[in-house]
Amino acid sequence: MSALDSLLSQLDPKRLPRHVGIIMDGNGRWAEARGQDRLVGHREGSRSVRAITRLSRRLGIRALTLYAFSSQNWQRPAEEVAGLMALLREYLVGERDEIMDNDIRLSALGDLDKLPRLVREPLDALMAESAGNRSMTLSLALSYGGRDELLMACRALLAQGCAPGELDEARFEQCLYTAGLPPLDLVIRTSGELRLSNFLLWQSAYAELHFTEALWPDFREEAFVRALIDYQARERRLGLTSAQVHSTAMKLA
Ligand code: IPE
Ligand code: IPE
Ligand code: MG
Repeated sequence: MSALDSLLSQLDPKRLPRHVGIIMDGNGRWAEARGQDRLVGHREGSRSVRAITRLSRRLGIRALTLYAFSSQNWQRPAEEVAGLMALLREYLVGERDEIMDNDIRLSALGDLDKLPRLVREPLDALMAESAGNRSMTLSLALSYGGRDELLMACRALLAQGCAPGELDEARFEQCLYTAGLPPLDLVIRTSGELRLSNFLLWQSAYAELHFTEALWPDFREEAFVRALIDYQARERRLGLTSAQVHSTAMKLA
């Protein structure tokens, strides 16, 4: 049995997270540690994206949301931003068949109007082409900021003329980019940083958090399954006591 198979055998297929978010961090450090340009790390990171998407689909995870470029990342050096945009285009063009063959719906969250045409065109095309796919939703957070998203939702509600008494969590969630997706169960961050960096601030309220030292280009199938095993060992109490959670679980069983 391979190391991956033995890890997979430890997973309970009935208790997988429905929606996993990943803060894919550490590409630059991965490249710098090898004396290479940061873009080499971003390119290697796109191979991790492919590996983790493929395994998520195989396992039956319903939604995978990847933080690929933050609102703040626009402030990086112009050559790095340009290199990342070129790589994104390459990814969108190169992954088209994989996404369609695997019945994956591609979606994007963020201020997409800020993206250059060279990204926007293949992105819009693949989102439209894959809109009817149902097996998994792969969302790319691009030019995304959690605070921006909350403000965008508030503006949308005001524009709809939403009265204070009409506003509840469900209505608010309809205005977020993640409307219609299952609740975020697990957030993974690579590269040893212990922060959310403006990722899915509302949605992560009750998500389990998994931090790993692995840099994103090194985060492949085994590391992902370890994160899922770690998730399954958590007790999600959502404010209740452990005894309450157990008695509800017994009634459901
Ligand atoms: C994550 O890797 C990718 C993006 C933010 C676009 P980084 O580029 O942040 O890599 P480090 O954190 O500098 O190593
Ligand atoms: C978060 O990584 C954004 C993405 C992974 C796209 P950063 O590298 O930008 O975050 P900070 O600067 O370390 O908080
Ligand atoms: Mg970083």
